[in-house]
Amino acid sequence: MASRFIVLGLVIATCSFALASDPILLNGFSCKGSKMAQPTDFSFSGLHIPGNTSNPIGSRVTPVTVTQIPGLITLGISMVRLDFAPWENNLITKVLQKGDVFVFPKGLVHFQRNTGYGYTVAIAALSSQNPGVITIANTVFGSNPAIANDLLAKSFQPDTKTIDWIQSKF
Ligand SMILES: *[C@@H]1O[C@H](CO)[C@@H](O)[C@H](O)[C@H]1NC(C)=O
Repeated sequence: MASRFIVLGLVIATCSFALASDPILLNGFSCKGSKMAQPTDFSFSGLHIPGNTSNPIGSRVTPVTVTQIPGLITLGISMVRLDFAPWENNLITKVLQKGDVFVFPKGLVHFQRNTGYGYTVAIAALSSQNPGVITIANTVFGSNPAIANDLLAKSFQPDTKTIDWIQSKF
């Protein structure tokens, strides 16, 4: 309860100059005056609902960022729910148990994989109101226009036909 009031107070303080005038954009997001703010500007429902993992990467991100909660504007924080479908092949390197926390420093290349047999879920906190994500494979092999196949062949060491084949998947 207390933290909710703190959040509300911060947003009103940040946006108070917008009172009775046109909406002001901050970082590309609209800053409402305190008289226009609604309870829904500060809340999100549905983080308990599993994301649909029926897709080629077998996982789903449910974001709760400034797009979903306008009141996160300028607060420099957000969170996501991560759902992972079970994998059939099981390569165990480091397994987190229920309740464990793991930190990925900003910009660190990382992967997550469900090493169990059932569905699993993680909640992540992110140090931005509007975090970005760069999926390495999509970025490297699915860019538009494409990165030249001979350049990728040199970087990753297969022949250019293999690169063409990988690129065709993205
Ligand atoms: C999950 O996504 C798949 C593929 O898009 C779709 O066929 C399926 O109906 C979805 N399931 C639910 C429960 O939304």
